[in-house]
Amino acid sequence: MERNMNTYIGIDLGTSGVKLLLVAADGSILAETTEAYPVSYPKDGWSEQNPSDWLSAVKKGIKNLFDGGMYEAKDVKGVSFGGQMHGLVMLDKEGEVIRPAILWNDGRTQKQTDYLNEVIGKEKLSALTANIAFAGFTAPKILWVEENEPENFKRIDKICLPKDYLAYKMTGVFSSDYSDASGMLLLDVKNKCWSKEMAEVCHVKEEWLPKLYESYEVTGRVLGEYGLPSALVTAGAGDNAAAAIGTGTVKNGDANVSLGTSGTVFIAGDRFSVDKKNALHAFAHATGKWHLMGCILSAASANKWWIEDILSGDYALAVKGMEEKLGEGNVYFLPYLMGERSPHNDVNARGAFIGMRPDTTKEEMSLAVLEGVAFALKDCVEVALTNGIEVKKTKICGGGAKSELWKKIIANVLNAEVCSLETEQGPAYGGAILAMVGTGEYASVEEAAEKVVKVKSSVFPDSETARKYERKYRVFKELYPALKNAFALM
Ligand code: XUL
Repeated sequence: MERNMNTYIGIDLGTSGVKLLLVAADGSILAETTEAYPVSYPKDGWSEQNPSDWLSAVKKGIKNLFDGGMYEAKDVKGVSFGGQMHGLVMLDKEGEVIRPAILWNDGRTQKQTDYLNEVIGKEKLSALTANIAFAGFTAPKILWVEENEPENFKRIDKICLPKDYLAYKMTGVFSSDYSDASGMLLLDVKNKCWSKEMAEVCHVKEEWLPKLYESYEVTGRVLGEYGLPSALVTAGAGDNAAAAIGTGTVKNGDANVSLGTSGTVFIAGDRFSVDKKNALHAFAHATGKWHLMGCILSAASANKWWIEDILSGDYALAVKGMEEKLGEGNVYFLPYLMGERSPHNDVNARGAFIGMRPDTTKEEMSLAVLEGVAFALKDCVEVALTNGIEVKKTKICGGGAKSELWKKIIANVLNAEVCSLETEQGPAYGGAILAMVGTGEYASVEEAAEKVVKVKSSVFPDSETARKYERKYRVFKELYPALKNAFALM
C-alpha cells in the first residue's frame, strides 16, 4: 500500500505564544514549535497584543517546523487554527491594523457591558445571541472604541477575531467560523448568522464582518509567501472548541477542562441550549453542533504568577509533600487576578488568599492556588447542573494538565473521572484535525476525533478526599459574595 505522506499544520494562537504542530494523516505528531510574544497591560485590567507579533511568530513557526529537513513543506495539505477568543482586531481599508488587539481577558468595558446588559437588556441579548454581555466579549469592546477612540472607530473597514486576522493575512480571505464568532455577541448562535439587530445596537456595519463558515470548511489557499504550496486553509475554531476537537470532546455530554492562561469547562451538546441565567456561554461547536462553556480568566496563569513571580520558585518544590494533604487545611485562594468571567461576571474581582495563620506554610498556599482554580471551575460545573447536566467524566488539556497533583485535585473537587490524552496540545491538535476534515482526509470531525484522539490515563476521585473537598468548596462559595463589595471599592 502506498504511504500517505500528507501532513497538516494546526496553529494554536494563544495568549502567551503560538504553538504549531505538524501532524501526519494518522494523527501522529511529527514536529512542534512554540514562539512567544508579549501581552501588554497598559492600564489596570487592560490587556492588549499586537497582531503583527502573531503573524511574525506564525511565519517563524512554519519555518521552524521544517528546519530539521525531516519533513517537506510541499506535503502539507491543510492548515487550520484554534485561536484565543473574543479579541477585537480592527482593520482599515488597506487591511492594516488600526490599534493593538483588545484581548479576551481585558476588563475595560464595564460601562459598555452594563449598558448592554441593563439598557438593551439581558433578555433581549439572550434572545438575539444566546448570551449576555461579559466584559471580555467583542461587542462591548467595539462600543468602548467608539466612545473612547472615535478617530480609530471612523477608520474601521473590517472587524475580526485573532485567528481570523491570521487566516486573512495567510489567504487573503476574510472569514470566521461559528464557534469563535459566538463569542463576539454579534452572532445569532442558534440560527448561525450575524444578528442584524445586535450589529445595529453596536453600530457595526454588516460589511465589516467576516463571512461565516463551519470550522471544518475550506476557506482558501495559503498565499505563496508562506511556503506551503499545496495547503488549503479551513476556518478553524475558537481555542476552546478546537481543544474540544483535539481531546475528542465531540459527543453529546462529553466534557473537557482546559487549564491554560484561562480555565474552561466545555460541555458538548447535540442541541442548542442556554442555562437559565446565561452564566455559561452558549456557543456553536466546531463539530457543527453546540456547547456550553464556563470560562475563568486565570487558571495556569494564576499558578504561574504565584510560583514564578511571587515565590521565584519551582513548581515541584512549591507543592512538595502536599499530595498527602488534599482537602485539608483552611487556606483558600480566589483566583480572580484579572477579574472573573463565569459565573460572577465581575471585572472588579481580584485575587485573594484567606485563612492563613502564623504557622501557614508556603506549600499550603501553593496548594490553595491549585485548589482555588479547581473550585472556580466547580462554580461553572454547578451552573451546568442547574441545566440538568452532570459532569461525571471529563478530558483535560492545557499546560496545567501536565501536573498530576492538579489533575488529582480537579478529579476530587469535581468528583469526576479526569482523562488525559496522549496528545496534550488540545487547540493546536484540534486545528490539525479540522484541517484534515476540510481537505477530505476524514469524512467528519467526529470520525477524525474517534480515529486519532487517544486517552492515555485516568485519575479517579477518591470518596474520602472528595468529601473533604465538598466541605472546603462550601467555604469557598461564601468568600466571593463576602468580598464582592470590597472588590468594587478597590
Ligand atoms: C473563552 C475565553 C478564553 C480564551 C483564551 O471564552 O475567553 O478561554 O479563548 O484563549
